[in-house]
Amino acid sequence: MQEFEFARPSLATIHRLFDEIPDRYDFLNSLFSFGTDGRWRKRLVEATHHSFVKEGRTTSFCRVLDLGAGTGKSTAEFLHSQSYGRIFGCDFSLGMLGVAHEKMGRSCDFASGDFHSLPVRSESVDVVTGSFILRSAQNLAQLFGEANRILKPGGKVAFLELTRPKNRIFWTLAYLPYLKFYIPLVGRLFSKHNHAYKFLSQSIQTFSDPGKLSAELEACGFVSLSLTTLSWGLATIIIGTKGNVA
Ligand SMILES: C[S@@+](CC[C@H](N)C(=O)[O-])C[C@H]1O[C@@H](n2cnc3c(N)ncnc32)[C@H](O)[C@@H]1O
Repeated sequence: MQEFEFARPSLATIHRLFDEIPDRYDFLNSLFSFGTDGRWRKRLVEATHHSFVKEGRTTSFCRVLDLGAGTGKSTAEFLHSQSYGRIFGCDFSLGMLGVAHEKMGRSCDFASGDFHSLPVRSESVDVVTGSFILRSAQNLAQLFGEANRILKPGGKVAFLELTRPKNRIFWTLAYLPYLKFYIPLVGRLFSKHNHAYKFLSQSIQTFSDPGKLSAELEACGFVSLSLTTLSWGLATIIIGTKGNVA
């Protein structure tokens, strides 16, 4: 499909794309989301905490792994909440991790690795989180399977992802023009990397919806799935618990 030629790039293209934009990533991220990404990240941290608390569990000693941590924006949010034990980040882009490391120093450990095959011991983590990474995955089942493998029994996945608003009027009059005109315009003005913003725009238009993601997580052994819709559906938080059978 020519119109969406950048919606599902190869692993190597994704890798190159993120390695080329780390210095502009935080700035463009805020510009594209009109600064709302910060609020969404806070909601992710709070919702994850709440999902433990409502089961009568504490997160004080939880080990949290942020997949596709990038420049560490969500990793920092988990860290600053002071609700969790240890926070780790993992990403295959050394460029993005370099920015994360500069910002956060030794307060957090970052490792390089592909989230389809993680360099992490089985059943060693309490929370696997990831913000805006699912659209980059080549194989969601493999990513969810890895998350399941490294989680302790009862551990949780908590993903924040860009989604499509359900309201057709909002979609047609506001969001589609935003994807088709605002993103390319801002992308062209502030980035030399055309492919990066084309990927952003096209992957949002074509990616799976939250209901299907939730079903895929269930198929990979997660239970008690919950979806939290943010900003009229522009983003969604998906939380699930590792069940007894993987
Ligand atoms: C859209 S950025 C999100 C970064 C960060 N989570 C945030 O919230 O700003 C996607 C990140 O996922 C990373 N990524 C994409 N595919 C990956 C893979 N297969 N393994 C590890 N990291 C990956 C990219 O390098 C990039 O840093």
